[in-house]
Amino acid sequence: MDLWKLLEKQDIEGLNEAAITGRLDDHLYMYHMPYSYTAEQIRKIRTYLFHMPDKTPPRILMVTSALPSEGKTVIASNLAISIAKGEDQHVLLVECDLRKPSMYTLFKYPPSKGVAEILQGTANVAECLIKTPIDKLTILPAAKESPANPSELLESKKMSQLIQELAQRYTDRFLIIDTSPIQATVDPKIIADQVEGIIVVARYRYTRESDFRMALESLPRNKILGTVLNAVDELPAKKYKYKKYNYHKYY
Ligand SMILES: Nc1ncnc2c1ncn2[C@@H]1O[C@H](COP(=O)(O)OP(=O)(O)OP(=O)(O)O)[C@@H](O)[C@H]1O
Ligand SMILES: [Mg+2]
Repeated sequence: MDLWKLLEKQDIEGLNEAAITGRLDDHLYMYHMPYSYTAEQIRKIRTYLFHMPDKTPPRILMVTSALPSEGKTVIASNLAISIAKGEDQHVLLVECDLRKPSMYTLFKYPPSKGVAEILQGTANVAECLIKTPIDKLTILPAAKESPANPSELLESKKMSQLIQELAQRYTDRFLIIDTSPIQATVDPKIIADQVEGIIVVARYRYTRESDFRMALESLPRNKILGTVLNAVDELPAKKYKYKKYNYHKYY
């Protein structure tokens, strides 16, 4: 099956078209408020990815952080929308937090089969994909029911095959993988081996320097693209600030 042909069509049988029923969550700033300050900061991340010196844009990206609730899912989702809004980039947003799926609360679909069921062999990719109201953005949820052995599933050969299948070698296709927190699980480290680039989120006045440092140290250094300092203040207009990760600063 050519998965991307399927995604391009988006209306073929098998794609979960009717899944999204409600108004998308307000935290999807790129969708609801594309001209806000926050959306502008997200767009800067996108621009950075597309204009990395001496590098073609990494297409298999992972968003992670040290602790729970730092904004990984919000950042991954907004970045996915931002890239999909580009002229010709298709994005598959893959939720790999198998323990605590939450993407459905942002995009308003019911808990749905996804990565876990595919890896367990009880579902195929096409039947799990969720079509979103954003053109060229498709979601692969984590799981309808959290599996008992998430790390083992993610570590399996099937997982690397799945990522390869999803990524196929085209230059205008992006995979954005949302993960669980590094301090709570080994999962992000497992997924890190499969991706081309990693974005590490920290939350303003929440993430301790020691936690952040630990997160950076546990990831492959050459894959870390940058950090996002999230929720910089509580003013709705200034929720994000992006700064390029300066490697030498922290060591
Ligand atoms: N920039 C922001 N402004 C306001 N609220 C935010 C912002 N980023 C995240 N939040 C809120 O903070 C909470 C945690 O965000 P999110 O679910 O994205 O974090 P997470 O790192 O993915 O958490 P988990 O580790 O549980 O997966 C959510 O309620 C989300 O709506
Ligand atoms: Mg999350």
